[in-house]
Amino acid sequence: MVNRLPLEDEVLERLRPTEEDRSHICGLAKRLLAAIAKSGKAEGMVVGSVARNTWVRGDRDLDIFMLFDPALSREALETEGLTLARSIAESFTYRFHEKYAEHPYIHASIDNVDVDIVPCYNVDSAERIQSAVDRTPFHTRYISGRISGLIDDVLLLKQFAKAGGIYGSDQMTEGFSGYLCELLILYYGGFSPLIQAAASWRPGFVIDIEKHAAKKFDEPMVVIDPVDPKRNVAAAVSLNRMAGFVELARGYSEMPASVFFLHPMERCILKKELEETIARRRTFVFGITFATPPYIPEVVVPQLKRSVTAISELLERNGFVVHHASYDMQTEKCMILLELLVGDLPLIRLHLGPPLWNPLNADKFRKKHLAEHLSGPFIESGRYEMEVQREFPTAKNLLASPALLSASLGKHVRQSMELGWTLNEGPECWQEEFAPFIAEFFDRCSPLTRILREK
Ligand code: UTP
Ligand code: MN
Ligand code: MN
Repeated sequence: MVNRLPLEDEVLERLRPTEEDRSHICGLAKRLLAAIAKSGKAEGMVVGSVARNTWVRGDRDLDIFMLFDPALSREALETEGLTLARSIAESFTYRFHEKYAEHPYIHASIDNVDVDIVPCYNVDSAERIQSAVDRTPFHTRYISGRISGLIDDVLLLKQFAKAGGIYGSDQMTEGFSGYLCELLILYYGGFSPLIQAAASWRPGFVIDIEKHAAKKFDEPMVVIDPVDPKRNVAAAVSLNRMAGFVELARGYSEMPASVFFLHPMERCILKKELEETIARRRTFVFGITFATPPYIPEVVVPQLKRSVTAISELLERNGFVVHHASYDMQTEKCMILLELLVGDLPLIRLHLGPPLWNPLNADKFRKKHLAEHLSGPFIESGRYEMEVQREFPTAKNLLASPALLSASLGKHVRQSMELGWTLNEGPECWQEEFAPFIAEFFDRCSPLTRILREK
């Protein structure tokens, strides 16, 4: 549309789906809709980026919704919806399985396309939404009616966010969903004006296209859903991802280049390199690995985040200074990786007692510790203190002990760790499936830093 850079036109040449892609995916959508219609049980609808013409070439994601009578109970929707979804999938492929978001749906692989077949209620107005997925058809109607003329801008933004590693509202990415990208383009009227504006975004800003917000939100970025005044479309965007987008926008304004639209190279580290890295840093590195709990990432990842915090706090409470801690979830195994500034400590530690001005407790303390003394109790600033034997003189002792399970890990992570975990130290943490994660762990950089480096 307006003042597009030549480089953006070039990028768009490879972002727009070809006629062939279009007929492939739309042909499949038609056949699926026909199968749903034939069942007579629900009304089929293509939603998501395929319905809105905002999918990027090469994406193989088709979202088909089956709209059921809202008079159906929630339970009946789940069972009937799933039965129909399964029988539709079955008539096209043998490669499908059940997935679970707010309620169950079917994910199938048909003709090289990843198809989501999702049952929902056919509500006649967005106010009568019964479950989160019921909103999606409204999103599609809202965007489809307004986005023509801005489709190229959406493609640029989606690819810009993908290349920056911040596309997706899943727990792992905590970034920008497709729908959010579309709304941002609508609000700012194009990719260029969005980039200009984003350069000076600050946390706490609110976009309310329909001016109908019915609630206060405390997430860093707030974009009120035009079809639901009580929902923040940007709720999943973390403070760091938002800052990353602002950084990319500034970088791109200053120096537009095609690297801003290229997929990042996957990083890797060899065991030998890890050994050198750790030797150079002289830090204490530990890897905890355990079987991946048998639940979807949306369930497991938040628990991994919580576990990393809890284990770091446990280490800190025991005197081990944590420099950096992170996690990774693979199909078979999960890893929690810890880099400590302190790994070994003396055998004694200070133990604080009550002030002398609290005679009951002070007396109890002194009597209790009289026999087992190392040094003390003595008096410091009016209270008893003493030196005791340190329970965990090395971080390794602590991380290998059952005390690790006393940390507030998430439920499923705990269940898995109760069956056992492996503790590795230094370069022994290296495992092939975790190599990209370990590489990034030791070479952290912001989205713009990474892009400029790859240039
Ligand atoms: P998708 O994740 O498939 O997104 O969800 P998309 O818009 O089709 O984008 P791409 O091109 O596949 O990446 C399908 C629809 O489900 C709703 C949105 O309406 C979205 O368009 N949805 C999905 C949400 O409302 N929130 C989400 O976090 C994810
Ligand atoms: Mn989609
Ligand atoms: Mn999808």
